[in-house]
Amino acid sequence: MVIEPHKRSQVMPLPVVLISTIDKKGVRNLAPWSCVMPILRPLDEIAIASWIKRDTLNNIRETEEFVINIPTADMIEAVKISSQNFPPDVDEFEKAGLKSHISKKVNAPGVEDCLAWAECKLIEEISRKNYSLIISKVLHLEENDSYFNNKGEFDYEKAKPLLIYKMRFSYPVNVSNVMNLSI
Ligand SMILES: Cc1cc2nc3c(=O)[nH]c(=O)nc-3n(C[C@H](O)[C@H](O)[C@H](O)COP(=O)(O)O)c2cc1C
Repeated sequence: MVIEPHKRSQVMPLPVVLISTIDKKGVRNLAPWSCVMPILRPLDEIAIASWIKRDTLNNIRETEEFVINIPTADMIEAVKISSQNFPPDVDEFEKAGLKSHISKKVNAPGVEDCLAWAECKLIEEISRKNYSLIISKVLHLEENDSYFNNKGEFDYEKAKPLLIYKMRFSYPVNVSNVMNLSI
């Protein structure tokens, strides 16, 4: 059976992150993002794909900075609010009821209470007619200690990282049924 493009996430669930940026005037912007790809290991580069009409993309072009925030399933309402198309002068942290997490290496703030934060710097934009690929360098990567146990292991049941699956939000990680994968 042929899979239509909008149904691809049925066979390939995608992560849900929040990308935070600020514009030159300091207005905070937020948007959920799924087309996010770490570029190999151990390289500290991440690529994101952006439709051309995004305040996020405009802000990245303007400031060359952004933060990738990993939200929990408990933040789903805020994630949904931030997916709305607000005008660029609207503070989307306020709209979504989220607080800033102070960034260490970039001016764009992160989102408080997320699982982790990657502070990124634009390296290269690959422009196509309707979209751009943004290749960035991770300047600072930080985890939220409250989701790690005293052995330093990530607690998936507590954290509930979000995925997008069949065009629905989901938390499909089954920690009792994992296989060891030596990579
Ligand atoms: C789960 C989810 C994933 C998304 N992933 C992307 C993406 O990878 N690239 C993109 O351009 N838009 C993506 N969007 C759409 C943007 O989040 C949405 O258009 C948002 O309003 C853009 O905000 P902005 O104009 O403030 O950047 C996604 C939306 C959702 C709900």
